[in-house]
Amino acid sequence: MEYKIKSLKRIISIIFVFGFGAGASFLFFTYKNGDHDYKSMHERHHSQSGMADGNTHKADGNTHKHDEVNMPGLQGKDTTDQEVNDLKTIFREHEGIVREVINLANGIKTTTEAQDVKLRDAITSHVSMMVTRLQEGKNPEVMIQSPTLDTLFEVYDEIETEIEMTDLGVAVIQTSSNPEVVKFLQTHAAEVSDMSARGMVAVHERMMQGTNE
Ligand code: HEM
Repeated sequence: MEYKIKSLKRIISIIFVFGFGAGASFLFFTYKNGDHDYKSMHERHHSQSGMADGNTHKADGNTHKHDEVNMPGLQGKDTTDQEVNDLKTIFREHEGIVREVINLANGIKTTTEAQDVKLRDAITSHVSMMVTRLQEGKNPEVMIQSPTLDTLFEVYDEIETEIEMTDLGVAVIQTSSNPEVVKFLQTHAAEVSDMSARGMVAVHERMMQGTNE
């Protein structure tokens, strides 16, 4: 009897030790690649393919769509409905944007225009509200915004901005006496051009490269 109890105890110990070891091995092999950063989660979510239209992605044979109606990624820390709606209009209708950027020795001169009145109004409203935020150092912290924008908000007091209305949109001149800040302004202007040309595809690509904040 005593012998039976002893062997039962031994069997239970063996099961416990092996079970624990198997569990630990499973956890180790699952997480050993440290693959839980934003970029890899995003990749797993969408798979590497199917990004061409920036909208429909194939993952594991299933197809799903981004929520391009509500675009939740355009919400920020304290963004107003107007700010979010301007961005929605801009992204939905980005193909109607005509943009030119001139890099100056001390900054940028940009012109952003649209034939369509609704799109044009969204652009001018976006620029006036966002430039006001910049001048007040009030980072909107929009989910999909680029790291360059965060940097600009850190140095906002070193940036001079002039806004001029054009017939079809808005011209912006931004300058700085700090060459580092000039570089950030030029990088940001190029990012805006990329988003204007390719909409959310440009945003996805930037986030996939792991350069998103
Ligand atoms: C297609 C998308 C977008 C367009 C066409 C656009 C347009 C513009 C334009 C014309 C400016 C003035 C500076 C410049 O011309 O480079 C600007 C500035 C700004 N935008 Fe956007 N934007 C877009 C996306 C976004 C997004 C997703 C955010 C996220 C919050 C954002 C936030 C800002 C901020 C904070 C500024 C002020 C910073 C600065 O002027 O340097 N924009 N945007």
